[in-house]
This record gives sequence, structure tokens and C-alpha cells, in this order.
Amino acid sequence: MASKIVGLGMYTPQKELTNFDLEKMVDTNDTWITERTGIRSRHIAEPGTANSDLCVEAARRALDDAGVDAADLDLVIVGTITPDMPFPSSACFLQAKIGATRAYAMDLSAACSGFVYSLSVADALIRAGRAKKALVVGSEILSSMVDYTDRSTCILFGDGAGATVLSECPEGEGVLSCHLHSDGNLWQLIQCPGGGTVNPYSPEMMEQRLHSIRMAGNETFKHAVLKMVEVSREALDRNGVGIDDVKLFIPHQANLRIIQVVGKRLGIPGERVFVDLERYGNTSAASIPIALAEAKEQGRFAPGDLVLAVAFGGGLTWASALMRM
Ligand code: ACO
Repeated sequence: MASKIVGLGMYTPQKELTNFDLEKMVDTNDTWITERTGIRSRHIAEPGTANSDLCVEAARRALDDAGVDAADLDLVIVGTITPDMPFPSSACFLQAKIGATRAYAMDLSAACSGFVYSLSVADALIRAGRAKKALVVGSEILSSMVDYTDRSTCILFGDGAGATVLSECPEGEGVLSCHLHSDGNLWQLIQCPGGGTVNPYSPEMMEQRLHSIRMAGNETFKHAVLKMVEVSREALDRNGVGIDDVKLFIPHQANLRIIQVVGKRLGIPGERVFVDLERYGNTSAASIPIALAEAKEQGRFAPGDLVLAVAFGGGLTWASALMRM
């Protein structure tokens, strides 16, 4: 058996932080942010919101869309780098909140590649007979680790969650293949150095703002383009299809310029490339499942169409999944 997405849902907190709001917080402006990133606004959770609360909203919508009862789930995975707390996992909180009593639950940390990694793990467990129905969520409250005095990063990130319900299906449908890669030697390019065992919480650590995201934007940009193109081609080659066969390309929503360069190098026309980052910014692991849910809502793919999702993030990590919807 293979696995197939049978339900999609998304949720973003109500509060919006626009480029004009950021103009009042740091030395930046709407023109710079829009031209360099394509982002115009992002959604921000109220302080103290649990990541699993965002998961619940997205998961309920995905379960409704699938017509699946939470009690029938065998597996819950949450891709995230901003969990409710170090442990228990956000997936365990989500399990309890939706009543997925039969499921085993875990978080997966792969930064912006977290959803595609989680999808791949769930797909493999379904293929191995270890689950029949899985809830796979990407959810982040990145605002909890953004330094709102650092103009080079605070303009980029937003909060949100996207959820998918995966179910067994015959081979040749659903998730056709997933391709995962990492290079830990490049960990310094995107990191949150504080709050773990290396730099535990302390007044000094907080003063140095080590508990917030640091990113070498330019270097990251170059790797993102190279790796997203490479791992897209890997998925196409593995399945013996060309980019013209792909109805919709869903890249990680980090920067419009990255998306445009990747699309151009792959030779896919703009109308078949999904973009929603102007409203959400970079929501890390939530970016691809939010995009999938919105793409379905907008009728951007039909049953039987090929969708190629491609992610890139801290680690470094990068990944693709080719799916027959
Ligand atoms: N407003 C105005 N000026 C700014 C801002 C800002 N918000 N931020 C930086 N600048 C300035 C810089 O200080 C610099 O000024 P200088 O030339 O006087 O030194 C100038 O703008 C250019 O800065 P760059 O960093 O070179 O700008 P760039 O065009 O590279 O854009 C960005 C920066 C948007 C961060 C881009 O590099 C990027 O998107 N990188 C990739 C991010 C990514 O893909 N992340 C994915 C994973 S994230 C994760 O895993 C959690």
C-alpha cells in the first residue's frame, strides 16, 4: 500500500503584522521588504499561545475535509521547531486535544523542511503497515523566536499551521516518492543558538538575544536555490516524469525571488507555481501544508493531478515530495 492525502486544513492567528507596522519597529520600509522578499504581511499568535492550539484548528479542518474521526487516527506527527515546550511533544498535546486516543504521536524537527520530512515518515510508516491513517501537521509560532530589533530577520517570519490527513491507498496513487537531504556542516547559516543545552536559558544568554533566529541571508539564499532545483529534479527523474507533467509546484514560501529563480531554472511557468507568502511570510514547517490547503480551496489542482512540493531550511535540510492528488 501507498499513502494519499485525503484531507487538508490550515489556520493562521488573527493578528496581522504588516510591513507598515514593521516600519514603526525597525529601520525598514515596505518597498525594501516587498522588493527583496515579496512579503507584505504575516500573522502573529498572541504571546502564550500553544503551538498545539494552532495545530488543533488546522487539524479539525483537515479531519472534516477528509471525513475522518480523530479517534480513527493511528499516527500524529507535528513538524515544528517551536513546540509548546521541550517535552512533551506538541503532537502529544494535539493528540489529547482532538481525542486521537488510538494514535502514537511525535514531533519532528527539520526547520522549514519539517512538513515534507514528516510527510515522508508518515508515508513510510503507512507503507510498512505501522499505520493506516495519519495526521501530519506543520505548525510554527516563529514570532516566539524572532528578534524584533533585527531588521534582517524580523521581516521574514510568521505564525500558522497546516494539516493533512493521510490514508492508505493503492500503489501509484498519492505520495509517489519523497526525497530527504541534510548537511549539518552548514548549521551556522540558520540557527537559534540559545535555549538548548549548549546555551541554556540565563539572563546573559537572553541579553545577547541568543534565543532568537540568526541567519546568513545571502548564503542561505544561494543554497536554497541550488538544493530546491536539485531535489525537484530528483523527484521528477525518480518517477520518469517531466516538469510539464506537474500541475502545481509548491515551493517553501521563504522569498519570492528564490521561488522565481527556482521556477525559472526548472522551466515551469509562473501560473503553475503556488505563491502565498505575501500574506503569511515564512511560516517554516507550516508553509507547504498551508499552501496545499489554499491551493485545494482555490481549485489549483484536481484529483489525479501531479503536485510537487519542495522545501528548504535550517540544518541545512531540503526535501521534495511528488504526489498524485
Ligand atoms: N530593511 C532595509 N534594509 C535591510 C533590511 C530591511 N529589513 N534587511 C537588511 N537590509 C539591508 C542590509 O543591511 C544590507 O545593507 P548594506 O548593503 O548597507 O550592508 C542590504 O539591505 C542588503 O542586505 P542583504 O542581506 O544582502 O539582502 P538580501 O537581498 O540578501 O535579502 C533576505 C535578505 C531577504 C534575508 C534574503 O537573503 C533571503 O531571503 N535569504 C534566504 C532566506 C531563506 O531561504 N530562509 C529559509 C530557511 S528559514 C528556516 O529554516 C527557519
